[in-house]
Amino acid sequence: MSTITVPGVDASGTDEEVAAVTAVLRSGQLANGAQARALESEFAALCNGATAVAVSSGTDALYVSGRALSIGASDVVVVPGYTFAATANAFLSLGARVLPVDVDPTTFNIDPDLLAGVLAKRPDVRCVVVVDLYGSTAGTTEAISVAREAGVAVIEDACQAHGATDTTGTPIGARGDFTTFSLYASKNVSAGEGGVITTPDPKMAQLARLLRNHGCDTQYQHEIVGLNHRLPEMEAALALCRVRRLAEMNLLRRHNAALLSKWCLDEWPGVIVPTVLLESSHVFHQFTVVCPDVTKRDATVKGLRDHGVDARVYYPYVIADLPGVERAHLPVSESLTSLVLSLPVQPRLTPQQTEILHDAIRAVSKEWH
Ligand SMILES: Cc1ncc(COP(=O)(O)O)c(C=O)c1O
Repeated sequence: MSTITVPGVDASGTDEEVAAVTAVLRSGQLANGAQARALESEFAALCNGATAVAVSSGTDALYVSGRALSIGASDVVVVPGYTFAATANAFLSLGARVLPVDVDPTTFNIDPDLLAGVLAKRPDVRCVVVVDLYGSTAGTTEAISVAREAGVAVIEDACQAHGATDTTGTPIGARGDFTTFSLYASKNVSAGEGGVITTPDPKMAQLARLLRNHGCDTQYQHEIVGLNHRLPEMEAALALCRVRRLAEMNLLRRHNAALLSKWCLDEWPGVIVPTVLLESSHVFHQFTVVCPDVTKRDATVKGLRDHGVDARVYYPYVIADLPGVERAHLPVSESLTSLVLSLPVQPRLTPQQTEILHDAIRAVSKEWH
């Protein structure tokens, strides 16, 4: 395997970010300080009037949201059949039953028609988790409406979709009862680890704050049972720098995605490139294409990696195969596991790396003929 010269993630710090983190370290205020509060207020400003609560990971954001909705033993939570394991694990950890529903083959997001069918048959569903997979909100407005009409709670797992809008151009963050974001190293806003919960309901935000901090708003006044899901100050300072540059970075991601779409369509006959319904609705956490068959997909991933390009498969499993999840028939999700491949789309690709990427896409086109 050759060395990767075109990485899928570049989370290294700028001088400004190093200075911001260093300032926190020098201050000695490493927890419960001004950075997390500032992050909450600046993050909320991007989320259509929602209130934001900083937590220690995207998984914790889902878990705390579930606890705030009192999801527990034997409640049924619907998740998409194709997403990262955390979407299911957060609710399994609450003792809930997790029921996957298949995704739409063009949006990769939960199929609204299938969701309507499941909700009509399953009155035991308490909550639907809608994921903006790869940073795309395509099809999610419809899925959220279906869940609302059925009267169930909605959590939007936007762990890959910071700064995305719905298809009317409205920023996400206030559509569900809760929206969850991850600040993991690879994410559009990254701090190493961390997360943010947003909600349009200030009372629910207050509940999430209590759940995040052992049930306390004031030190040693434990109002409810909670845990420690707090975001440390150094991570908050780094995330704050990156939130301020999110719009610029998402624009670069979209620019790279437009180039990649053209190059893939030019070189790989039969490839399906991502659906973009509105200029700003997709923030390209991943640029993921669908190949015509598994042989081409696997040969293309290997060929690209041999050329130094960090091509990867997100994800090689369906949610129904994870421990603890209810078995379900997920033909679209199953097929995606063997057909998808993701190309580096991150905003810090240099012109030289972009050229290597283009050359590699051309070089592996022999696998497609
Ligand atoms: C769709 C989705 N949900 C949840 C998570 C969990 O976030 P974290 O890794 O910060 O716990 C991730 C992160 O990879 C994700 O991609």
